[in-house]
Formats: sequence, structure tokens, C-alpha cells
Amino acid sequence: MGFADPRRRAGSLPRRAACATTVAQTFPPSRAHRFRRALRRDLAEALAKAGRSALRAAGSLCQGRKVAALAMLVGAIWLAGCEGVQSSLAPAGREAERVALLFWWMTGVGLVVWVLVIALALHVVRLRADRQDRRRNNLLIIGGGVVVPTVVLTVLLVFGLAMLPETVGRAPEGSLQIQVIGEQWWWRVRYLRPDGSAVVLANEIRLPVGEPVQLRLESDNVIHSFWVPSLAGKMDMIPGRITWLTLRPTATGIFRGACAEYCGTSHALMAFYVEVMEADAFRRWLEHQALPAVRAGGSLAQRGGDLFLATGCAACHTVRGTPADGVIGPDLTHAGGRLSVGAGILRRDPDAIRRWIAETERIKPGVHMPAFGMLPGDELRALAAYVEGLK
Ligand code: CUA
Repeated sequence: MGFADPRRRAGSLPRRAACATTVAQTFPPSRAHRFRRALRRDLAEALAKAGRSALRAAGSLCQGRKVAALAMLVGAIWLAGCEGVQSSLAPAGREAERVALLFWWMTGVGLVVWVLVIALALHVVRLRADRQDRRRNNLLIIGGGVVVPTVVLTVLLVFGLAMLPETVGRAPEGSLQIQVIGEQWWWRVRYLRPDGSAVVLANEIRLPVGEPVQLRLESDNVIHSFWVPSLAGKMDMIPGRITWLTLRPTATGIFRGACAEYCGTSHALMAFYVEVMEADAFRRWLEHQALPAVRAGGSLAQRGGDLFLATGCAACHTVRGTPADGVIGPDLTHAGGRLSVGAGILRRDPDAIRRWIAETERIKPGVHMPAFGMLPGDELRALAAYVEGLK
């Protein structure tokens, strides 16, 4: 130890602090007390000095143009992240608008609290140790540590809870009803009609703008979570239960949805698209979806149709109007009119369909559909032409 006598104040502050216990055990109480008092004073001075240096450094940094430019760049990148087809902060539905409003309020209040706390910390660092007022300090601890957090959190809680009834409320009677079933790892979509029949498709949902839509969410395998950030908050799909989500799209456009609950190997590859359309266009689209498949006339597609039945695709897939009536995989009746292949993974075109058939496992690990890469290239192209022709 570097202190023969506690009055000697040689050595660094951390070393002296580390020696405080030994000093107390070695020297008489009055000397040890003097040592501790000197140590406390020096520690307070060192803290205040560090605070002043940090303030000066922050001040000179803020004056730098580089920092201003950097701040603008970071701000621009941050704001750019709010755009896009899958963003809660670019809402295109009433539910998403409430989510965004809540987020901005939470962020704003959080920012105000943060600025206050930092300002207070800087103020305390600049205070001289011998000018402390015990009563004021206690008031600050009770006010800033108990009263303000309680009030702020209560206000935010009430603000959030007030939004709940409309968020979880059902769409009015007679609204469009859509059943969405989470599969591993794709989405079975059924438009439920008033007469009890259903129009079945997969991995794509179209909605009329400005109308409430009731989603009935289900799963018969594991828990998934249905989430279209631009339109609404997320809702779990739980085996053995039915959950409900109401959408009220406010703008036309194409939005991306995703599974928001880990559900197995290809959870991250379980996406879909939602297209919000004008009401008339939507009705025409739905009428068309209800029709049997319209087969494209080309000879390649004709051959693909024969191969579709001969190679066993029909055991898992339905193509209405043909002998294919499997229900394990997605309904492909109008697959050629969809935006994506493989549940939001590939942009649909004949080559993407061919790749999907040949390399299913490579594109979506763990997928239940076996890859048909053993088929000759011309047969794969024929199959792809057939599916592409199912408009
Ligand atoms: Cu389905 Cu994650």
C-alpha cells in the first residue's frame, strides 16, 4: 500500500479509494476520518471537473458543421425507414393510424423525460459539493423519482387503453368476412360468402378501400401471428382458437404482411401481400376468383397441365375446374394472377415458378412440398407455363 501516513495524499483517486478500508483498520479513528473526508472532497471535485469537461466537449462538438451534417444524415435515414410497404409508421388503415399515433406520443413523451433527466444530471454535476441543500434534494428524489414517473406512466396507460375498444372491436354485421389460416409456412385465405360458400386462394389478400373487413384467424399446427404493419397491429393465430382482427384500409396500394411469431424453420419466409383496391375493382376481382381456372391456350402450358396431373401435383393442390383437388398445399386456381411465389418470397414470373418447383427446399428450408428438380428442364418449363397461365 502506498500510504505510510493517511495525511499524505499521494497516489491516484481510485488507489486512495481502494485503500480506505486498510487505513480505517491501521490508523486511529480521527486520522482515518480525516483521510476519508479528504478523499470524499477530492472525489466530488474530480466528478465536477469531469462533468465540466464533458459539457465543454459537447458544446464544441455541437458547433462543428460535421456534426450537424451527420445529425441531418442520421435523421434522413431514420425518417426514410418510416416509408415503405411494411411500416407501422406509414399507416394506410385506421388501426395502423392508432398504432402510429400511440408510438409518436410514447416517443415524444419519452424524449421530453430523457431531456429533463439529462439536464438535471448535468445541473447536479455542476453543483458544488458544499452547496447541497438536503431538503431540496429530498424533494427532487420524491418528485422526480416517484410523482413524475407515476403521473407520466398513468397518463400514457390511460391514453393507450382508451384506444383498445375500437382496436379489438368487430366489424359491423354484413361486412366482408375473410378466414385466414396459418400453415407452415404459408397462408390459406378463404373469402366467406353470405351463402356459406368460400372463395379460396393463398398468400394474397385483396381488400376494398374504405370498407371494414372482418378477419377470422386460425391455425391447426403451431402459433403464427398475422401482421400487416401498414394496415393494423398484429394478431396471433392460435391452434384450437379463433382470433379476430378488423381492418379498415384508408388508401389503395400494395402492402406486405408477415408472420410475427416464430413458427419453425421458415418462419422468416412466411410473408404475403395485401392489395387494397377501389371497391368496384375489388368486386370484379372477387367474382373472377370464384370462377374455375381459365387455362392458357399455348401448347407448352397444355403439356404442363397434363404433367401437373401425371407427376402428382394434383394430390396436394387444387385447380378448380380440373381433376386436381388436393387440399394440403395452396389452391392454385388463379395462381398466375398473384404477386408472389412461395408466400411472398419470389416475385411471380415463369422463371420464379420453375425455380420454386425445382428447388423448393433450397428456397424455403423445411417446406413440406418436395422439390421436383429431378424433372427434365423442358418439363419444368411446361409446368411453370401452366401455373403462370392460371390467371
Ligand atoms: Cu408463421 Cu412465423
